[in-house]
Amino acid sequence: MIEAKNINFYYGDFHALKDISMYMKKNTVTALIGPSGCGKSTFLRLFNRMNDLIDNTRLTGECLIQGENIYNKSVHVDELRKKAGMVFQKPNPFPKSIFENVAYGLRVNNM
Ligand SMILES: Nc1ncnc2c1ncn2[C@@H]1O[C@H](COP(=O)(O)OP(=O)(O)O)[C@@H](O)[C@H]1O
Ligand SMILES: [Mg+2]
Repeated sequence: MIEAKNINFYYGDFHALKDISMYMKKNTVTALIGPSGCGKSTFLRLFNRMNDLIDNTRLTGECLIQGENIYNKSVHVDELRKKAGMVFQKPNPFPKSIFENVAYGLRVNNM
């Protein structure tokens, strides 16, 4: 379902992910375990292109979801993020009421 092939990721000169290759099977739960700062969040953020938002970063290697490299130019990031989401350690609501935050997804889908 999800595959990383020879992933290297850099924040400026800092080499955060070093040649990571692994796959995650469909309908299974996969845990990434490691000390704080080892790169778990950096790795997870690759799979819905959230690291694209950080300046001065560089990625080499391939991130595949169902066989498609999600860094291909043909991939629409909005569509990708409907399928690959991330739940954060800390909640980060938009600056609206909690009701409006919860209702947001339904409203944008006209429900
Ligand atoms: N936005 C960033 N800019 C520069 N360095 C970062 C950034 N985010 C994380 N790092 C660095 O990358 C490394 C991995 O961090 P992170 O992926 O957050 O680790 P983990 O989630 O395993 O605690 C750490 O050394 C961290 O300081
Ligand atoms: Mg983390």
